[in-house]
Amino acid sequence: DTPHLVDRFGRVATDLRVSLIDKCNLRCTYCMPAEGLPWLKRAELLDTGEMIRLIRIAVETLGVTNVRFTGGEPLLRQDLVEIVGATAQLPSAPKTSLTTNGINLARYADDLRSAGLHRVNVSLDTLDRDTFRELTRRDRFDDVLSGLEAAKAAGLEPVKVNAVLMRGLNEHEACDLLRYCLEHDYHLRFIEQMPLDPQHGWDRGQMVTADEILEMLRAEFSLTPHSAERGSAPAERWLVDGGPATVGVIGSVTRPFCAACDRTRLTADGQLRSCLFSTTETDLRGPMRAGAADEDLVRLWQETMWAKAAGHGVDGDGFAQPSRPMSAIGG
Ligand code: GTP
Ligand code: 5AD
Ligand code: SF4
Repeated sequence: DTPHLVDRFGRVATDLRVSLIDKCNLRCTYCMPAEGLPWLKRAELLDTGEMIRLIRIAVETLGVTNVRFTGGEPLLRQDLVEIVGATAQLPSAPKTSLTTNGINLARYADDLRSAGLHRVNVSLDTLDRDTFRELTRRDRFDDVLSGLEAAKAAGLEPVKVNAVLMRGLNEHEACDLLRYCLEHDYHLRFIEQMPLDPQHGWDRGQMVTADEILEMLRAEFSLTPHSAERGSAPAERWLVDGGPATVGVIGSVTRPFCAACDRTRLTADGQLRSCLFSTTETDLRGPMRAGAADEDLVRLWQETMWAKAAGHGVDGDGFAQPSRPMSAIGG
């Protein structure tokens, strides 16, 4: 019987999210300042072998069945295809996915598919070229659209699109985004903005809520609850105009799903986090570089997950934002 990643509340972590690199080639205003952030140094990042070793331990010993690669922007990692390939070839054959901003996806989609990647989620907050440039501080709108098309053509399906709506910026685009995704057969999900920005500028009143998003969509589409079992999925889904297409809303703040959480997280510098909002981390890189055996890493991982908090507590009195920003945790 394999040891699993269980916490005090009986949740079992089977979904590993690996942040491969903290750097990004966009500068979305809600995520990073224009000058970027103090990036991790080369020697701080886990190398290819270290990454693959920890993923193998998670999948082959700790019961992880799904591995998602995130960043920063994971396509900036030179060895992404190699890491994906090694993961896909593990004997337990985990499901693999990638969360990306879509830039350079057109170039790598076929290689990723051949390496065994199953699917991709692409971030796209606007369909307006000028708004895109303003929001991301880069003029790469066309690259994202071609990345999306390439992912679909490569069979990395379903292709999901993640959109964060912000007041006064793109909130009027909810219906346009849905129409676009319906036309292209992308599965759109709207995400409530969470307090994970390095500037600590998150303001609950500025957040466009799940209720508001649904109300905007209902002006042009009929939405009925999707009957499929939601399980641990962050997105609550609705059938659009009777289906089969769906739209999702990830209401992390107003409709938290922590009670069903099945996630465990590894950062690019080899730190374990039991939650997106953890304020403590467990170092695996140090022990690994000091010669730790697999069993030692297994035990550290289990201890870390056992201590996982019940929920993020964003609305609680004592809420403290984690010191690591979203871009260095991997969403
Ligand atoms: P799939 O539904 O399996 O495709 O994945 P996903 O939605 O979990 O992954 P993705 O990386 O696309 O994340 C979409 C949004 O959900 C991001 O804004 C994440 O920050 C948010 N998210 C992902 N995992 C968690 C989580 O464990 N807790 C919270 N609160 N939000 C999460
Ligand atoms: N809250 C919610 N989503 C965020 N993202 C980045 N920062 C935040 C935040 N503070 C989104 C990105 C991307 C996804 C992986 O996470 O827009 O779509
Ligand atoms: Fe899981 Fe933490 Fe996300 Fe809640 S906030 S769903 S506990 S990772």
